[in-house]
Amino acid sequence: MFIKEELEKFQKDRPKSERLWQKALDVLPGGVSHNIRTFGLPLIGSFPVFIKSSNGAYLKDIDNNEYIDCWNGHFAMILGHNPPEVRNEIKKYLVEGWHFGTNTEYQVGLAETIIQRNPGIEKIRFCVSGTEATMYASRLARAFTKKRLVAKARLGWHGANDTLLYDIGSLKRDQVSPGLLKAEQAGILSFQINDESAFDLIKENSHDLAAIIIEPVLGGGGGFPVDLEFLKRLKEDCEKYGILLIFDEIITGYRFVDSFFQNEVGVIPDLTTMGKIIGGGMPIGGIGGRKDIIDRSSPDAENQVLIGGGTFSGYPLSMIAGLKTLEILKGSPHNYERINKEGESLLNNLNRFFKEEKSQINAVGHKSMIMLHALSKWIENPSMEEIFKFKDKKREALLQLALFNRDISGLHGLGSISMAHTHENLLKIQETVKEISQPVSQSKFK
Ligand SMILES: Cc1ncc(COP(=O)(O)O)c(C=O)c1O
Repeated sequence: MFIKEELEKFQKDRPKSERLWQKALDVLPGGVSHNIRTFGLPLIGSFPVFIKSSNGAYLKDIDNNEYIDCWNGHFAMILGHNPPEVRNEIKKYLVEGWHFGTNTEYQVGLAETIIQRNPGIEKIRFCVSGTEATMYASRLARAFTKKRLVAKARLGWHGANDTLLYDIGSLKRDQVSPGLLKAEQAGILSFQINDESAFDLIKENSHDLAAIIIEPVLGGGGGFPVDLEFLKRLKEDCEKYGILLIFDEIITGYRFVDSFFQNEVGVIPDLTTMGKIIGGGMPIGGIGGRKDIIDRSSPDAENQVLIGGGTFSGYPLSMIAGLKTLEILKGSPHNYERINKEGESLLNNLNRFFKEEKSQINAVGHKSMIMLHALSKWIENPSMEEIFKFKDKKREALLQLALFNRDISGLHGLGSISMAHTHENLLKIQETVKEISQPVSQSKFK
C-alpha cells in the first residue's frame, strides 16, 4: 500500500520529469550519464527527477518541486548550491574567455593555496576528475617504487578508471566488470578496512606492493570511517616495506576542516588525490604530495612518468571557483564546527531511533557525511560486512522516493550537510526520515 501510494504521489507531482525520462531512455543508456543518478528508482517502477536550478540548501526540479538537498553535487558543494561569492567570481572572469589551453596564474594560485595549508603536499598536478587523479597516483607509485601491485580498500570508490574499478559496492566479491582485466592481472589487491587481515595481506605482498590507496572515510562505499589506529598502522607498514601510502581525499579534503583530513589525524601520506570541494563545483582532480614523487611527472624529468595531458587540465574556471571557495572556507571554522556537530547529532539521533523501532534502516557516516542503508531485515548494530550482505536495493529506492515526496533529495540515503543547511532544515530531515522509517522497513516487494 505504502509503495503504491508513494509511487502515485511521485508520478502525479512530476509529469515533466516523467516525459523527459522517456526521451532520455532513447538517447542515453539507462537514461543517465552517471549510473547512480537513477537514484535506484527504476528498480521500483519509477523515473528519477530532472533538476533545473539550485540555491543554497535547495534544488528545484523541472516540475517546480523544491527539495532540501543533501547530495550536494556528489559532495562538492560544501557551501551549498550556487553560492553568490563563487558565482560572481566566475562571472567576473568569464568575460575574459574560459578555455585557453595554456598556463594561467589561477592554477599557480590554487596550488599555492593548497600547499600552504597542507604540510604533506609539496607539489600538485591538476587534472579534470578524481578518476584521473587516482589512476595517475597509482601509475606514479608503480613507477617510483618499481613494484607492480596496488592495494585498495574493499568497497573503496576511486572513480571508474581501469586501474582501480575493483571490489566496489555494486559488484559482488571477485566479480569484475566486463571489459576489465581480472584483478590479479591488473595487479590489484583489496583488503578489509579496520581489520587485522589487511596487515597480513600487506606483509605477504610487500615485496611487490607499490602502493596502498585508501579513503579516510569510504564515500561511495557507504560512509564507513576508517579507524585512526588502522590508518597509523598502514603508514607504519608502508614505511617499513617501502610502499607508498596514498590517501584518496577527493571527498574528505576540506570536508571537515579547511584542509585535508590527514592533518586532522596527523597521518601524512606520500601522495594525496584531491577533487570535488577544491574546484568549487567545477570539474577538477589533482595529485599532490612528496616533491620527489610528483616531480617524476615533470616534462624535464629523467625517465619521466607519463601522467597528465588532458585538454581541460587546470581548467581556468575550476581554478577560479576553487580559489574563491577555499578563501571562504578559510574564514569558516565556526561553520565547519556547526555542520560537523549537526551531522554527528543527526546520525546519533537517527540510529537511536532506528534501534528503538527495530528499523531496517541504518545511518553511517562521519561528522558532516551521513548516509542511510536500508537492509532486508533488522540487525542490531550491523557491521560493514552485514550492511553489504543484507543491503536491499529496492528498499533503498523506496527510501529515496519517499524522501523526494517529502521534499528532500539525497543519494546513498542522504549524502552530506552543507554550510547552507540551517538547523531547521536538518530537523526536518531528521523528522522525515523517522516518519518514513517504519513504512519503508515494512514494505514488501514483489
Ligand atoms: C573518493 C573518491 N575518489 C575518486 C572519485 C572519482 O572522482 P570523479 O567523479 O571526479 O572522477 C570519487 C567520486 O565520487 C570519490 O568519491
